[in-house]
Amino acid sequence: MVVKCEENRNRKCRVEKTAAPGKNPPFLLAHLSDPHFFSTAGTRLPDFFNKRLYGYLSWRWHRRHEHGDKVVQAMIEDLHRQQPSHIAVTGDLTHLGLPDEYRRAAEFLRRLGPPGWVTVIPGNHDAYVRSAWEKGHDLWAPYLAGDDDLASFPFIRQRGDVCLIGLSTARPCLPYLATGSLGKDQLRRLELILSECGVRKVCRVVLIHHPPVAGVVSWRKRLTDHREFCEVLQGHGAELVLHGHAHFASCSFVETSAGRIPVVGVPAASAFGRRSERRSEYNLYRIVRESQTWRISVKRRRYDVDKNDFSNRDGWQTLLP
Ligand SMILES: [Fe+2]
Repeated sequence: MVVKCEENRNRKCRVEKTAAPGKNPPFLLAHLSDPHFFSTAGTRLPDFFNKRLYGYLSWRWHRRHEHGDKVVQAMIEDLHRQQPSHIAVTGDLTHLGLPDEYRRAAEFLRRLGPPGWVTVIPGNHDAYVRSAWEKGHDLWAPYLAGDDDLASFPFIRQRGDVCLIGLSTARPCLPYLATGSLGKDQLRRLELILSECGVRKVCRVVLIHHPPVAGVVSWRKRLTDHREFCEVLQGHGAELVLHGHAHFASCSFVETSAGRIPVVGVPAASAFGRRSERRSEYNLYRIVRESQTWRISVKRRRYDVDKNDFSNRDGWQTLLP
């Protein structure tokens, strides 16, 4: 079993205690997304002679009232109390892909936990302009690497009987657009990974920033090759798909001949939620092997503005089978 919890040794890491295959205790996976750290520290005016100008104005007029560090801090504390086996973060850690935002996001990840315990994929805001991702992603590299230590997509991290598959849909795009795409190479490699993991009968959890099903977000925010992605899922299977980007909770399913695959998104991690459906939440997934199948349940932890704390929105809901 591949598990690294060498840092923060005093933090409990349930997966380290897993028993032999087939007798594992529940794997508890936490999923959060879109903290959108914002900082212009150290920038110069030319840094904004591009799409960042629109993003900056959007922040000043609108978004700065929706996102708050205190919400993220409360989430980190609540996550640690829940003691998940692993944490997945599905992108948009930065708002404009600026250097100090990358640094703040790296600090956030360090406070969440060690790289072996936290898996990250990028979102469209992390590649806001062409140079942003190239300059910034080294700061997060240990969180983005697969078990082979290579930082390429898709990557695989296996923890017990659960295989996390990280994808990147982060591509710079024109102002007003927030689209993403996987591309043929990534889709082809994803086919191979899903197929191989399916043969090994591990629980396949796919991490992707953009919602991969039609109708969750508008045309200008869509995943351009969502049909091709769904065809790969239908052809090769998966147990769970987790995404961000929409900034509200959503749950849909991809129908396959072998059953349906849940596709679940969460609101932005830092959102105060002036509109309640957009208030910060993260999800906890309880994953249990049952004979030849998987039982997956989800519990939503939601931010309470008055208490500055998170609590259960409802109880455990069964997603699979
Ligand atoms: Fe976002």
